[in-house]
Amino acid sequence: MIDIKGIKKSFGSLQVLKGIDLHIDKGEIVSIVGPSGAGKTTLLQIIGTLDKPDSGTICVDGVDVSSLSSAKLSDFRNKHIGFVFQFHQLLPEFTAIENIMIPAYIGGASKSEAKKRAKELLDFMGLADRASHKPAELSGGEKQRVAVARALINNPAVILADEPSGSLDSKNKAELHQLFFDLRDKFGQTFVIVTHDETLASITDRTIKMRDGMLETEEQQQTLQED
Ligand SMILES: Nc1ncnc2c1ncn2[C@@H]1O[C@H](COP(=O)(O)OP(=O)(O)O)[C@@H](O)[C@H]1O
Ligand SMILES: [Mg+2]
Repeated sequence: MIDIKGIKKSFGSLQVLKGIDLHIDKGEIVSIVGPSGAGKTTLLQIIGTLDKPDSGTICVDGVDVSSLSSAKLSDFRNKHIGFVFQFHQLLPEFTAIENIMIPAYIGGASKSEAKKRAKELLDFMGLADRASHKPAELSGGEKQRVAVARALINNPAVILADEPSGSLDSKNKAELHQLFFDLRDKFGQTFVIVTHDETLASITDRTIKMRDGMLETEEQQQTLQED
């Protein structure tokens, strides 16, 4: 599903990614953990085609995204990748259902198609009675679930989440984490989740540890545990 080979990235003289190789299977839920500054967000942005590597290749959902033009890339991103950020980033002047519908419009769906799918997602998230509320009228957990619904509207194969539960209390955190697994079971999506949350990392299929622009291999992790 996601195949990354030899990714390197520098900002000026600072090398942030030092050669990343990673394969993630369809339907896998993978967590990426590591200290602040390790390069987790940069890696996620590159997987999500929001940023380009200096060298290396990335295939997502069977497409070599390293070779796409920027116009093709934004279309690819709209249809194949959903993003969930630490802070929901909903548009304040639009209602919950309108926020969810926006990526569908961008992808060329009609208003009725977009509305139908947004309603299904709101139902699935237990938010049917919040459809016409604006973000300011929603709780933190509700806003984050609306953001997840927005990420899902175009039925992307991959969901990328950067500290998605970082701003939630423990109850909403647990609900959001459960939602990721429910979605994988229902829609078969692949999840890559950057997190500081040890509980979330422990329940994912696989945890990848990142440090100083590199992934720790499983052998290194074993040795570190034995020390
Ligand atoms: N656009 C940028 N310009 C310059 N430096 C950046 C930029 N983005 C990230 N960095 C630097 O790259 C390093 C890794 O950042 P990041 O990928 O955000 O790490 P993490 O998400 O693991 O905390 C940090 O030292 C950060 O300051
Ligand atoms: Mg980060």
